[in-house]
Amino acid sequence: MDMADIAARGLVLLGCGKMGSAMLAGWLEGGLPAASVSVIDPYPSDWLQGAGVHINQPLPESPAIVLIAVKPQMMGAALPNLQLLGGGDTLFISVAAGTSIATYEDILGANTPLVRAMPNTPAAISRGITAIVGNARASAADLDSAELLLSAVGQVVRLDSETQMDAVTGVSGSGPAYVFHLIETMAAAGEAQGLPAELAMQLAKATVAGAGALAEASEESPSQLRVNVTSPNGTTQAALEVLMDKTSGFPTLLKSAVGAATNRSKELSRD
Ligand SMILES: NC(=O)c1ccc[n+]([C@@H]2O[C@H](COP(=O)([O-])OP(=O)(O)OC[C@H]3O[C@@H](n4cnc5c(N)ncnc54)[C@H](OP(=O)(O)O)[C@@H]3O)[C@@H](O)[C@H]2O)c1
Repeated sequence: MDMADIAARGLVLLGCGKMGSAMLAGWLEGGLPAASVSVIDPYPSDWLQGAGVHINQPLPESPAIVLIAVKPQMMGAALPNLQLLGGGDTLFISVAAGTSIATYEDILGANTPLVRAMPNTPAAISRGITAIVGNARASAADLDSAELLLSAVGQVVRLDSETQMDAVTGVSGSGPAYVFHLIETMAAAGEAQGLPAELAMQLAKATVAGAGALAEASEESPSQLRVNVTSPNGTTQAALEVLMDKTSGFPTLLKSAVGAATNRSKELSRD
């Protein structure tokens, strides 16, 4: 399915908050006609009302896509309205954290093509990364359609199995918060060395953003990039001896942080 097929049959967006509107803005910019989009949202934002899409109106009979972007706790109230579209040719795509494929299949029927997706917050500036996995009914073409739509907010990767979703949540889903905390603590450490707060924060933000961009753009691995800037007995080596310490450094700390998030994700999906 390409954008023209989606435009012809229609796309339904359930929930147009932060994630929904970031995606919708990307689709409209990418040429999806506003008139082919139907949004369901109890309190449409001013931006949405000016976007030219259908808002809280009767839905197309067999839309190409239903994209679910409500909070997981709203799912019980929101989904039953779409039950009629289950079990047909409409592809359901959900970006709700922690809601399993089985939960959707219970409501919509197992014969519903479905893709579960896990985006992250840099999607707001089209620099997100989204992991996707389909149910048994989802075809290769369905996964391509999901990838096409989700690439409006950044990169898309495919998983072999839904069980990987918990670890993905622990790395990329919750990961932006780890990096925000890295920025906070780097800035605070700079202040502790005598720099003014504002300057320390500017240095920390630009260093994390610049190093991240370099790691993505470079053909060298992050490990090699690290080695390249570490001269023997220099300043970087002095810091890395602290950060790479086997018991108190990053390796142990991040392993247990990502482990804690992964375990919490497993617990939440059992609730
Ligand atoms: N933000 C992220 O970076 C991120 C990352 C990973 C996954 N996700 C997932 O994406 C989903 C949306 O997150 P978000 O940050 O975009 O949340 P959000 O800003 O709160 O957006 C949810 C939207 O759904 C609307 N809504 C509530 N009940 C509804 C109903 N019964 N029918 C239709 N719409 C309804 C909300 O309206 P009201 O505001 O009026 O309640 C709101 O506009 C969540 O499931 C979250 O787990 C988000």
